[in-house]
Order: sequence, then structure tokens, then C-alpha cells
Amino acid sequence: MWWTEDIWLNKKNAGGEERLMFYAGIDAGSNATKTVVFGDEGILASHIIKTGLGGEEQALRCLADTCAKAGISREQVVCVYGTGYGREYLKFPQSHRSELMCHGVGVHWLLPEVRTIIDIGGQDSKGIRLDDRGEVENFNMNDKCAAGTGRFLETMAHALQISLEDIGNYALLASKPVRVSSTCTVFAESEVISHVAKGENREEILLGICQSIVDRVSGIVRSIGVKPPVAMTGGVALNRAVVKLMGDRLGCPILLPPDPQITGALGAALMARRHVTAGQDL
Ligand SMILES: Nc1ncnc2c1ncn2[C@@H]1O[C@H](COP(=O)(O)OP(=O)(O)OP(=O)(O)O)[C@@H](O)[C@H]1O
Ligand SMILES: [Mg+2]
Repeated sequence: MWWTEDIWLNKKNAGGEERLMFYAGIDAGSNATKTVVFGDEGILASHIIKTGLGGEEQALRCLADTCAKAGISREQVVCVYGTGYGREYLKFPQSHRSELMCHGVGVHWLLPEVRTIIDIGGQDSKGIRLDDRGEVENFNMNDKCAAGTGRFLETMAHALQISLEDIGNYALLASKPVRVSSTCTVFAESEVISHVAKGENREEILLGICQSIVDRVSGIVRSIGVKPPVAMTGGVALNRAVVKLMGDRLGCPILLPPDPQITGALGAALMARRHVTAGQDL
């Protein structure tokens, strides 16, 4: 990992005088709901739960759990911004913003030098290009098909009876991939099952699965023009093999935020703070 605990702590210490006002961002994603509570000293706490059936009550519970982790009461959170697939169904946030904007703002706060973000979530994958202020200057996304998303990895994990967390670790043990050529998740699942039946090496199959995601997503990212430094966000950034293969494919190192799954919620929390402290909306 390129980042150090110091960077994270420096951000935490970057605030001014202490005031007991807090801000929150909630990213109601298709797969996971993420919340960040932010104070003048930086990120106080974050929390991730499965979205499942989702809805207001679950989002409120995620926020309450984050406040509990932060050691503050819900009433001390003076402003909440929402983002993510389910944002428009939530009534309690004061406002909401697109995931593109929120990932941009969140990543810019953590890694101001980044100019391209690759966000791979549960349902879609996005390439986002940022300007030097962290504002979105171009983007493209795949939101029509599960291939090239976390959903694809989940299907494969289920088919191979392996945990999602282990896919990347085992894949990195292989030196060459068993190619998964089907572009449709359902056909790819059958293809993988037939590779297993033929006795192909498990690690090589897993590397082929990760390679298949990179094949899809790198095309989306290239279509917007890759400007380094490049960072990855979203739950799939926790898969070390996908991150490595993506870096190899794009020919540049991939930076990882400390917790890549929460950058959208972080961006929303930062916008909530800006709304209160500067009376500014992005
Ligand atoms: N430890 C892990 N290792 C690898 N992949 C993981 C891990 N944890 C989660 N994922 C992947 O991350 C995905 C969820 O990521 P994320 O929370 O960014 O999605 P989301 O924001 O809910 O989706 P979307 O943005 O598409 O609406 C899951 O589908 C899963 O494949
Ligand atoms: Mg998302």
C-alpha cells in the first residue's frame, strides 16, 4: 500500500479550533450503504452495511451506528448529504448529489493529485476524470450489464464457493490466467464452471475472472482519456488482483485511498460541511 497512516492522521489534524458540529454523508449504493461522519478534525467514523432491501430505516440505522462509533449523538450531526443509487428515495438528508461528484470530492480531499478515478461498485463501473479542483471534467460508465462490476465477482465467488475477499489473493498466486471470454455474466458463470469441470487450475481461473473485469472497465476508462495519477474506489478496489491488473493494463500505478469503498460517502459529508460552514453548494 502506498499511503501511510501519517497521511490519514495529518488529515485528521488539519481542522482548526474544536467545535461540536458534525456532518455526515450517506452513500446508498446498490450493493452496500456507506456512511461517513466528519468533524472539524477530519473523518470521525465510517460504517458499511449491505443495502439489501434498503430504504429510509436502514439508512438511518447505518448513520446511527456511525454516530455511535464516533461517540457522538445523531443530533450533533447538523447536516447530511446523500449520494448513490438509492439517494433519491431517502428523505432525511438535507440534499443529495451524484456519485460522480461525491467520489470526485472525496478522492480530491484524500489524494488531491489524482486526475482519474476508476469506481467499480456492485452494479456499475465508472471512469471519472477530475480537474485540479476535484471537479468532474469527463466521465463514462457501464450501468447496463453486470459484467465488469462487483456483481460479476459475487456471481463467480458463489459459483466457485470461495469468499469474495479470497478471489484477489488467490488470483495473485497464478502466473497466467485461464481466459474467461464470455461478455455476459450468466454465460461467463457457465464458462467458469466448465473450466472447473475440466480441472483447470483454480488460481488461474480466478486470475482470468479478475482479468475479465479489467478488460471491460479499462475500455470505459480509456474512452474518457486516462490522465494520471489514477485512483481506484468502490468495493472492487479491495480486490488486489483487479488493482494490479488495472495498473498493468493502463501502464501506471493505481493509488488506493485508505478505505476505497467510502469515498462517495466522504465526498457527500464534505459537501454537507461546505454547505454549513461556507453556505456553499457544489
Ligand atoms: N473485501 C472485498 N474484496 C473484494 N470485493 C469486495 C469486497 N467487499 C466488497 N467487494 C465488492 O464491492 C462491491 C460493492 O462495492 P460498493 O459498495 O462500491 O458498491 P455500491 O456503491 O453499492 O454499488 P453501485 O455504486 O454500483 O451502486 C460488491 O459487489 C463486491 O463485489
Ligand atoms: Mg457506488
